[in-house]
Amino acid sequence: MKVLIANDHGAVELKASIVESLRNEGHTVENLGVDDAGSVDYPDIARMAAQRYLAGGYDFGILCCGSGIGISIAANKVRGIRCAQVFDLYTAEMCKRHNDANFIAFGGRVEYSVPVVDMIRRYMAAEYEGGRHQRRVDKIDGAR
Ligand code: RB5
Repeated sequence: MKVLIANDHGAVELKASIVESLRNEGHTVENLGVDDAGSVDYPDIARMAAQRYLAGGYDFGILCCGSGIGISIAANKVRGIRCAQVFDLYTAEMCKRHNDANFIAFGGRVEYSVPVVDMIRRYMAAEYEGGRHQRRVDKIDGAR
């Protein structure tokens, strides 16, 4: 898959570990985030990543900040972006199957009960179900 990833200073290590894991598994990962601890503003990172995604060519995007909260809120302000803050394998799967999430978000300062890369793998393996869910996704996107 072709994946876009972006992060603020709160998730430099998490982002690096995700990039390494996905590349080792043969995925193409474009790193649009920061690679040092210098402070940046996550809304800027989210907007830039969303615009790159919407320009086309990526299967999905991953956003990381300290909590995963701010960067997902900011991404979801961009029309066409459905960013899910994922906490476990269940939410990783369901955000694709029912919500057709095109971004998933994680926090570099969060203690997850499962490795983040396992949640990403679960998301990647899931398929959007469409059907009744499409009507709801259209409503999210303002199309209905
Ligand atoms: C940055 O300190 C932090 O606020 C940010 O990474 C994120 O957690 C915001 O939601």
